[in-house]
Amino acid sequence: MNRTDFPKGFFWGTATASYQIEGADLADGKGPSIWTTFSHTPGKIHRNETGDIACDHYHRYKQDVSLMANLGVNAYRFSISWPRLFPRGRGERNQKGFDFYARLIDLLLENGIEPFITLYHWDLPDALQNSIGGWESRDIAAYFGDYADAVFRSYGDKVRNWITLNEPFCSSHVSYLFGEHAPGFNDLTKSFLVAHNLLRANGEAVKRFRDAIEDGKIGLANVSQWVEPVSDSSEDARAAELVNQFFNDWFYTTPLHGEYPNDLSKILIDLGVMPDIHPGDMELISEPIDFWGINYYTRLIAKSDPKSEFGYTIVPGDLERTEMGWEIYPDGLQKFLERAYRKYGEKPLFVTENGMADKDIPEEGKIHDIRRERYLRDHFEASLKAMNAGVDLRGYFVWSLMDNFEWSHGYSKRFGIIYTDYENKQERIPKDSYYWYADFLKGE
Ligand code: FCB
Repeated sequence: MNRTDFPKGFFWGTATASYQIEGADLADGKGPSIWTTFSHTPGKIHRNETGDIACDHYHRYKQDVSLMANLGVNAYRFSISWPRLFPRGRGERNQKGFDFYARLIDLLLENGIEPFITLYHWDLPDALQNSIGGWESRDIAAYFGDYADAVFRSYGDKVRNWITLNEPFCSSHVSYLFGEHAPGFNDLTKSFLVAHNLLRANGEAVKRFRDAIEDGKIGLANVSQWVEPVSDSSEDARAAELVNQFFNDWFYTTPLHGEYPNDLSKILIDLGVMPDIHPGDMELISEPIDFWGINYYTRLIAKSDPKSEFGYTIVPGDLERTEMGWEIYPDGLQKFLERAYRKYGEKPLFVTENGMADKDIPEEGKIHDIRRERYLRDHFEASLKAMNAGVDLRGYFVWSLMDNFEWSHGYSKRFGIIYTDYENKQERIPKDSYYWYADFLKGE
């Protein structure tokens, strides 16, 4: 298999997110985000690390773009930091922030690299958390719309591909229920309320997009789990259905049909935690998007558990694992793509994230990350198989361009195809997987 097996015009890229790579966290007028506050709260992040400096991409973006140009990708997915543009979330604009992304976009285009911009990859302006309670407030949807509109009007003449939110599952449940991400709560009611407002915000941004931009596409990127029941029993099949509804469908079929998944909604109503749905909410939520972004890493195995709140539990599988402890399961990508295409409206799909964390210990200045090479090759192959089965897949983005701030894991998990030497002024060292990807892209 090589590049020529894929259609011409297929987007091959790498992906990153603002807080994970930019650093310069309060520089040049940028306001703090909820991640600034969270990472500076002792005990929240591995070794109390922060994104203050991260990969220092804000200052080193030129080098990063040339690394991508040498790699031979034709696309780059990155996110814009809302508080870099609007330090307080609304009102006052930070021109230096706008200029930074303008320079980045121009440089990408000069190098034949198509920008795919994510508007929100979790770094909410802290001012909005403090003033209105962030995503818990219904007002956030309109504020996000205003921010999105300002971005569309600034860069919409050059950028054609847009993603509203990255993984609303994580901004709601991982942040408000599991408490692992900013702002760090353990509250089921809040968590589903936040999910509702995120879906409203997605709809609002899509609406504003149609008004602002004639020639462009906008989609939503979801964390996407391939779900399997642990046995053939009907109880485990129901458990798998509920796991699918919680992790996947809540954020896929709801924007598609304007209706929450049935079985899980019933459970939420019984528990008294279903968010209030106001008139017009579901129309806004189902504002049609152009494509789905699929962030795929692993599978989940579901087992019936009548004692648990939702009636299921997740059990471990026995496949080889990454440094995150996630099972490596390329077939799951193929199956997920096929399921997503059928079940989620036959829209164009992009793999907007896929990759693995490994140990990546440099040996004489080289990083022989053969497990990652194999991981990428197997997932490229899985993508191709899904396409051969009729899935309209348009692109694939490796997570990540370089090692970066992996949220609550700090810098301990390395996902990059480029090594970031944090001890040595954030020097970049391409790993073997980078050279493998470059050869693949050359068609060798
Ligand atoms: C995804 C996130 C991304 C990165 C990868 C490993 O859930 O979108 O920022 O953390 O996982």
